[in-house]
Amino acid sequence: MSEFKELVFSGVQPTGNLHLGNYLGALQKFVALQDSHECIYCVVDLHSLTATMAHDDLADQTRSITAAFLASGIDPKKNIVFNQSQVLQHAELAWIFNCVARIGWMNRMTQFKDKAGKDRENASLGLLAYPSLMAADILVYRATHVPVGDDQKQHLELTRDIAQKFNNDFSRRIAELGYGVDMEVGEEKVNGFFPLTEPLIDGAITRVMSLRDGSKKMSKSDPSDLSRINLTDEADAIAKKIKKAKTDPEPLPSELGGLIERPEAQNLVGIYAALSGTTSTSVLTEFGGRQFSEFKPALAELAVEKLAPIAGEMRRILADPAYIDGVLREGSGRAREKAEATMKMVREIIGLIDG
Ligand code: TYM
Repeated sequence: MSEFKELVFSGVQPTGNLHLGNYLGALQKFVALQDSHECIYCVVDLHSLTATMAHDDLADQTRSITAAFLASGIDPKKNIVFNQSQVLQHAELAWIFNCVARIGWMNRMTQFKDKAGKDRENASLGLLAYPSLMAADILVYRATHVPVGDDQKQHLELTRDIAQKFNNDFSRRIAELGYGVDMEVGEEKVNGFFPLTEPLIDGAITRVMSLRDGSKKMSKSDPSDLSRINLTDEADAIAKKIKKAKTDPEPLPSELGGLIERPEAQNLVGIYAALSGTTSTSVLTEFGGRQFSEFKPALAELAVEKLAPIAGEMRRILADPAYIDGVLREGSGRAREKAEATMKMVREIIGLIDG
């Protein structure tokens, strides 16, 4: 029997400026994967409604994330680049997954707990169901690999739980219709309709921390702009933010062990390693024993060298919104065809009459 064809899927929400965390946790990996894999990259506009329904600038934010994809080097001809809401099958499968997933699973999601805060009763139902739409994004293409930052790990575990429950609940129908695919799960060989998707959370840094507080994730929603490097920052802003980044008074250690309990130092070394395509170990071989007053200018120079061209290219692409909309329209058409092929089978498996 056949096995699932390797397919990469990932998504980014159109909320606020993209920052260095998004770049190193996601975009840089998206670009690297396009050489070896078939890839689908999505601007998840429906997800962005879960926190705030009314956005003044949702369309522009969607274009801006698309421009960041393209400016980082994602080729929209080779890969599929589109926005989620143009492919209705995502929302259709999400509804089905709402009926597969259990409320208890959703209640355990740390991102839900963080985002809903103390007043959970007042959070939107969409915020609770968020991971079920995310599972639908991935599984409507039966994608096998998902590059993300470390903060999405729990959502991807839930995606596997949903796939597994669907495969179990409908195992008889899947077998009758001959829609099952063999897959290896650990040592075991199993058969199912949806793959148990693998997260790709690797590289020199999987969680980029705030430049102001090494215990907090770098985030779009941090009120301090000094906490993050935005992909649209000019060279002098990048240099200034690195110069002002919180550190400790010790010089850099020569070995990884010396970074333990030094979260700010660990973060800056990890950023340097990821931007230069090396490892933290080799950064420490070069900079061990040196003060931050020497390391920070080197990091600033590297960050400007890597990020300034992306910012420039984003500005150029954003000047032509019709081009961006064309990319999204064309990508949506290609995505829709693939998603509909899956949904035809899903409807049949479940017993929903379809035409
Ligand atoms: P979002 O839009 O919050 O973030 C986009 C990507 O950036 C990564 N990321 C980080 N990586 C390292 N350090 C950080 N400080 C950091 N902050 C963000 C995220 O891990 C993510 O990879 N739920 C997703 C969007 C989504 C999705 C999907 C992803 C919807 N459907 C399907 C993959 C597959 C999210 O909110 O990402």
